[in-house]
Amino acid sequence: MRLTILGGGGFRVPLVFRAVSGDGADPAALGVDELVLYDVSAERLGVIGAVLEELRVPCSPRVRTTTDLTDAVRGADFVFSAIRVGGLAGRVCDERVAMAHGVIGQETTGAGGVCYGLRTVPTAVRVAETVAEHAPSAWVINFTNPAGMVTEAMRRSLGERVIGICDSPVGLFRRVARALEIDPADAVFDYAGLNHLGWLRAVYVDGADRLPELLADGPLLRRIEEGRLFGPEWLRTLGAIPNEYLWYWYFRTDALAAELTSRETRGEFLREQQEAFYAAAAKDPTTAYAAWEATRRQREETYMADSRELTGSGERDPYDLDGGGYDAVALAVMRAVARDEPSDLVLNVANRGTLPFLDDEAVVEVPCRIDAGGPRPRPVGRLDLHAQGLVTSMKAVERTTVEAALTGSRELAVRALATHPLVGAVPVARAVLDDQLAAVPELAAVIRRD
Ligand code: G6P
Ligand code: MN
Repeated sequence: MRLTILGGGGFRVPLVFRAVSGDGADPAALGVDELVLYDVSAERLGVIGAVLEELRVPCSPRVRTTTDLTDAVRGADFVFSAIRVGGLAGRVCDERVAMAHGVIGQETTGAGGVCYGLRTVPTAVRVAETVAEHAPSAWVINFTNPAGMVTEAMRRSLGERVIGICDSPVGLFRRVARALEIDPADAVFDYAGLNHLGWLRAVYVDGADRLPELLADGPLLRRIEEGRLFGPEWLRTLGAIPNEYLWYWYFRTDALAAELTSRETRGEFLREQQEAFYAAAAKDPTTAYAAWEATRRQREETYMADSRELTGSGERDPYDLDGGGYDAVALAVMRAVARDEPSDLVLNVANRGTLPFLDDEAVVEVPCRIDAGGPRPRPVGRLDLHAQGLVTSMKAVERTTVEAALTGSRELAVRALATHPLVGAVPVARAVLDDQLAAVPELAAVIRRD
């Protein structure tokens, strides 16, 4: 079985390689015998290739690298799309430009998410078309952010063959299960929304909802990240635990203040960290693996550091640092499909009536049962009016962003930004777009300046 990773020179690729290599006990574990890494940068491919050689075990797949997209996808059984259009320089602009105009500066949430989507969608659609033409039976697992809107755009050519993933809901489930001292495999998590905009409303074990027990216990709640981030009182008010990205919505003023007082943004931190890693590893490939491991650790430890600092959350739970993020979700999807092993996972898929206030084609993030036939959303409880409102607003923003990206319309790009509730003002939208167009060539290539 051939797995192709687009963004194959990316930092998290060794995690995927490790996962497909299995633990050595069962060589046929997943049956991936060839891994094709595609990237626009041959240097990054070289560095990641060197890390993989250090991680190689007897049942690891053979690895081939390429900078040709068609060559990469032809004959693939699975394609992981994990690209970052505009690189970390683009991420820094998403953050800094928004902040300069007084709104949240974050890669997927707020103005930054719209700008990131605008420059990414045309490339993602080209990827989808290339896969549809050269590997029509392949499954595409989309990691590329903003994952919800990118997956919806890719569905135009790939239909049910593209599945969007995120590690955030499963991370929340793991933490909640640990606090409740239950095995996540024994629980049904009632979670629903859009990517980075969802709520956990119930946790059923043997038919009984255990979430109220957790919500009632402040000290217990404070043992999980979301409890510290939102505070037990707010979680009780909501009667649910929101995805961590809803911090930027519910604590918008604090989040912005934290961003503005922080010496550097997350993008700036990562840009420096990643540049140093790739440069050092390219210079001396024998050190590539050790450098990667140290860099990865530091990246995990500092995830969402601004919010943790502001809320006095302290360091991340050691359990969250190795817990299995994107690689684990992607591998679980692949295993379920390739081996026809039914599995329950939260995925970004077409709505098909799951959230009745959205149309069937809307990509939503909901629990799915997945097997060789692909994912099918499972029934979830009704979202309350507040959540329906946010989800509906954001679906409109996503669709306007996709249309703007595919038509090059400046007018639609302004509309997407101005109607985003975290931007919420036409002059801010125009100013953000102008500054972005001046600073980000990948965006200027998409949106007309007239
Ligand atoms: C989580 C989110 C991803 C996001 C990542 C950012 O895993 O689910 O969508 O890309 O965090 O992490 P980073 O280390 O790049 O700040
Ligand atoms: Mn995510």
